[in-house]
Amino acid sequence: MQRPLASLAATEALGAALAAWLAPGRAVLLAGPLGAGKTTLARAILRALCENPELDVPSPSYTLLQTYDTPRGPAHHLDLWRIAGEGDLIELGFEDWLADMLIIEWPDKLGALTPPLALTITLSLAGPEQRMACVMAPAGAPFPP
Ligand SMILES: Nc1ncnc2c1ncn2[C@@H]1O[C@H](COP(=O)(O)OP(=O)(O)OP(=O)(O)O)[C@@H](O)[C@H]1O
Ligand SMILES: [Mg+2]
Repeated sequence: MQRPLASLAATEALGAALAAWLAPGRAVLLAGPLGAGKTTLARAILRALCENPELDVPSPSYTLLQTYDTPRGPAHHLDLWRIAGEGDLIELGFEDWLADMLIIEWPDKLGALTPPLALTITLSLAGPEQRMACVMAPAGAPFPP
């Protein structure tokens, strides 16, 4: 499904819808080039999950991982840009996080660790404030919910 995002507000609305789809054991994978809006969309998801529109959601591009205690359980926001591959992720304890909610930037690094119940959003640039989102939902967990 292609979903045009005409403005930041449209990206925030998609984030709220993705938060409604997320649940423990489910992952949202955010693909697309540098500056496409992956962290901006992750921030919208986490703000909706935490029911706090001002929640501070820094990019995890240096820290790799930020964990949030949400009313619906723990949510982990990862940026895998600096990760070499699956071995690094296993060493960090990735398999322990699979039962929680996951929001993952640069998901191509997951390889065989890609969670089965993962919704993939591929963002592309369509203008200064415009983006295009291609949404691919897993079998058995349609989006929108
Ligand atoms: N409709 C929109 N949706 C998302 N971001 C937008 C939109 N319009 C403008 N932007 C801007 O585009 C930038 C996207 O940056 P962001 O850090 O979210 O990208 P990213 O994909 O996470 O990049 P990186 O690969 O470096 O982590 C932000 O400055 C954001 O304000
Ligand atoms: Mg980012």
